[in-house]
Amino acid sequence: MVLRILRDFKKMQEIAHALRREAKTIGFVPTMGALHRGHLSLVRRARRENDYVIVSIFINPVQFGPKEDFKKYPRNFKTDTLLCKKEGVDIIFYPSAGAMYPAGYKTYVEVEDLGDVLCGEFRSRHFRGVATVVNKLFNIVQPTKAYFGQKDAQQAIIIRKMVRDLNIPVQIRVLPTVREADGLAMSSRNSYLSPAERKQARVLSQALALARDLIKKGNRDSLLVIRKMHQLIKRKKDARIQYICVVDPKTLAAVQKIKRQVLIALAVYIGKTRLIDNALVNSKYA
Ligand code: PAJ
Repeated sequence: MVLRILRDFKKMQEIAHALRREAKTIGFVPTMGALHRGHLSLVRRARRENDYVIVSIFINPVQFGPKEDFKKYPRNFKTDTLLCKKEGVDIIFYPSAGAMYPAGYKTYVEVEDLGDVLCGEFRSRHFRGVATVVNKLFNIVQPTKAYFGQKDAQQAIIIRKMVRDLNIPVQIRVLPTVREADGLAMSSRNSYLSPAERKQARVLSQALALARDLIKKGNRDSLLVIRKMHQLIKRKKDARIQYICVVDPKTLAAVQKIKRQVLIALAVYIGKTRLIDNALVNSKYA
């Protein structure tokens, strides 16, 4: 099949409905575009596991705060289209903000508690915006399976919870974080970094490696691990830590004593660019 680009959600919904009626499976990768190897790893898995692959490209205004980077978020639709073509995507769903949120729009999905911690503490309505748009996209694309990245660990946890709580008939797949050669997690926002900042940005994954190492050596005290990560990151002149947390990977509740698997998550500004990263560390095998 040749790549189709659909803007109209009704048309998208009709096609998806017809495919599902023919018992075809649909693999869905929701994105905000500016595609990189992280996104493409999801597309490739979707391609392997489904009859049809649909990628959405939609910079969702309701998940950005008023002072955030909605306006300057990278937009590369032409390159994105070429990449999707190369990966054998069947449909790019590319709706307008006006069609997704017409005047008078009123309905939002809120996953309680999980959306208030970590990034949610600093981006107050972010996860409500994410849950809302993903729910809308699921209703339009009707996927059999939907693919998310571990890079946005909290997002993936919230989507899984939403799907369970709202009985949405889709399987959620979460795939590992794809990284640059020096360990930096791939992100559309990395393009904001100056060359000097780009060098310093390595420190996020280095701090996670340090945490893994400390836990491997028998440290079980989260505060100590966090303190050491702080010290490492602070050595970079343009780095400003927003948070570093050690939490339970299911509930996102803070963990004091590391006994089993923990999620170590951090958000750090490098200059004006906010970067996030995380690692799942199992104290038994770290
Ligand atoms: P976006 O940042 O474009 O990411 C789309 C998907 O790609 C997400 O599931 C994200 O976790 C995944 N991804 C990003 N970088 C990755 C990396 N380095 N390795 C693996 N996967 C990676 O996340 C969003 O868009 C939006 O919030 C969205 C879910 C589309 C809702 O608007």
